Amino acid sequence: ADPDPLQDFCIADLNASISVNGFPCKPASQVNANDFFFDGLTKEGNTANIFGSNVTAANVLSFPGLNTLGAAMNRVDYAPGGINPPHSHPRATESGVVIQGQLLVGFVTTQNVFYSKVLSVGEMFVIPKGLVHFQKNVGTGKALAFTAFNSHLPGVELSISLFTSKPSIPNDVLTQTFQVDDAVVNAIKSKFGS
Ligand code: GLV
Ligand code: MN
Repeated sequence: ADPDPLQDFCIADLNASISVNGFPCKPASQVNANDFFFDGLTKEGNTANIFGSNVTAANVLSFPGLNTLGAAMNRVDYAPGGINPPHSHPRATESGVVIQGQLLVGFVTTQNVFYSKVLSVGEMFVIPKGLVHFQKNVGTGKALAFTAFNSHLPGVELSISLFTSKPSIPNDVLTQTFQVDDAVVNAIKSKFGS
């Protein structure tokens, strides 16, 4: 989904003082092999949180060699019963493969149709660009997936962001939207510490 690059590579200078679409390139004379390799996905993520899942991102911000190349990956760890809760990526299609365990993978289309399937090790899924999706660990032990994106910075919008944004969305907007009382909105907001 990202524009085509205009050179072989453009290792991001994340601290440059000018703003461009993407990031400026660090000078070619300073580029070395390490710029093209990343070991940030080797470690299991900490799933001790309310969702029982953890996303470790390899995007242009953590792996500057991805700048302008239209590619990124995540490592997603799931505790038993854990969920990577509903979210969308505004700038990328996502594909993924299950490395360990069993995952229920689902997404909802712009026509409001829900598609889902339980996947086992080695099986793959695709989430069309921008659609809301989730994965839930439905196996007995831990689960692990690797996902890949056609953007160096796919972006993520969490469905729960409606209750966690800063500043927060007024309660009357949320009570009217979800047709529930103030107390319900407050309860959800406080769950997520906002
Ligand atoms: C999974 O949905 C991911 O965004 O890595
Ligand atoms: Mn995703």
